[in-house]
Amino acid sequence: MNKICKVFDVKYPIVAGGMVWCSGWRLAAAVCKAGGIGLIGAGSMTPEVLREHITKIKDACNSQEKGTWGVNIPLMKAGVEEIIEVVKEELPPVVFTSAGSPKKYTKTFQELGIKVAHVVSGSKFALKCVEAGVDAIVAEGFEAGGHNGREETTTMALIPQVADALRKAGADTPLIAAGGIASGRAMAAAFALGAVGVQVGTAFALAEESGACKEFKEYCTSLQEGDTMLVLKKLSPTRLVKNAFFDRIMEAENRGASAEELLGIIGAGRPKLGMFDGDLIEGELEIGQIVSQIKEIKTAERIINDMISEYNTIILEKFA
Ligand SMILES: Cc1cc2nc3c(=O)[nH]c(=O)nc-3n(C[C@H](O)[C@H](O)[C@H](O)COP(=O)(O)O)c2cc1C
Repeated sequence: MNKICKVFDVKYPIVAGGMVWCSGWRLAAAVCKAGGIGLIGAGSMTPEVLREHITKIKDACNSQEKGTWGVNIPLMKAGVEEIIEVVKEELPPVVFTSAGSPKKYTKTFQELGIKVAHVVSGSKFALKCVEAGVDAIVAEGFEAGGHNGREETTTMALIPQVADALRKAGADTPLIAAGGIASGRAMAAAFALGAVGVQVGTAFALAEESGACKEFKEYCTSLQEGDTMLVLKKLSPTRLVKNAFFDRIMEAENRGASAEELLGIIGAGRPKLGMFDGDLIEGELEIGQIVSQIKEIKTAERIINDMISEYNTIILEKFA
C-alpha cells in the first residue's frame, strides 16, 4: 500500500497544499471527499476565522470520507501562537507546518493524536524533519506558487536528492513532492524521482471551491509560460504573476533597494487585494509556473480524478 495513503488513511496520496486566500473549508472539504488530504490555509486567517472554518469542515466531513483534512500553519506568521492554541483545542486530524522549524510543535501535535508533516526546500531541512519525528516530509521545488526556498532547487533536482539523503540517513519518513505538479504525468514523474505523494497548490488555487476570487482564477487561466517569476529574495522569495505591482518590485530590486524600501512598496494586504479582492494590477498575485497549463476551472474532485486517471494511463503505458 502507498505509504502516504497508509499514514494518513486516505484513498489518494494527493495533498491540496494550504494556500493563503484560497484554502478555506470548502476547498479542503471537497478534496477530503474526493479522497485526498485537504488543508485549510491558516496563513491568512485570524484565530477566530480559523475556528469557524474548522467548525464548518467538521460539519461537512465525517469519519467515513475517503480522504482527510487538516490545517497548514506557516510558522513565521505573526501571532502564530494563537493559531496553535486553536489547533490544540479543535484537534484537526492533520497539520502541515511550513516556513519555520519542525522541532517546535511536532511532538506537541502528535501527542494530541494529530499527524504532522513539514514543508522543506532542501535535504538538510528534510533531515531536521526526521530528527523532529514528523509523519511525512513535503519537499517543495522552485516552480511552486507562493513563498519559496532560497536555494532555488527545482522539483526535478530536489526530490531525488532529498530521497537519497533520507535513504542514507536510514529514515523511512514518506516524501511528498511539491512544485509544478498539476497532472497525472507530473505525479508519475515525482514518484519515479522518489516521492510517494504529491502536494498540489496552483491547480487547487484555481479550483471552483477555492476561496480566491473569480477574476483571479479566470485571469490565471489566460497566463502563458514565463508569466510568473520569483522575486523578493531579500525578504521572503515569492513567485508572482507579472503585473504593475510586480514591475515596481522588479525595478526596485534591480537598483538594489533595501529590504525596508521593498517592505514599504509592498505595504499591507497585497495578497488579499490581488487574490481575494481581484485587483489584478496592484495586487500580489501568487501562483506557480505550472499555471500556464491550466486552462479551465474545475471542481477539486475533477482535478483529483483527472490526475489519477492520467497517472494510471502513464504507468500502464510507459512503465508496464
Ligand atoms: C496562492 C498560493 C498561496 C500559498 N500559500 C501558502 C501558505 O500559506 N502556506 C504554505 O505552506 N504554502 C503555501 N503555498 C504553497 C502551496 O501550499 C504548495 O506547496 C505549492 O503551491 C505547490 O506548488 P504548485 O503551486 O506548483 O502546485 C501557496 C501557493 C499558492 C499558489
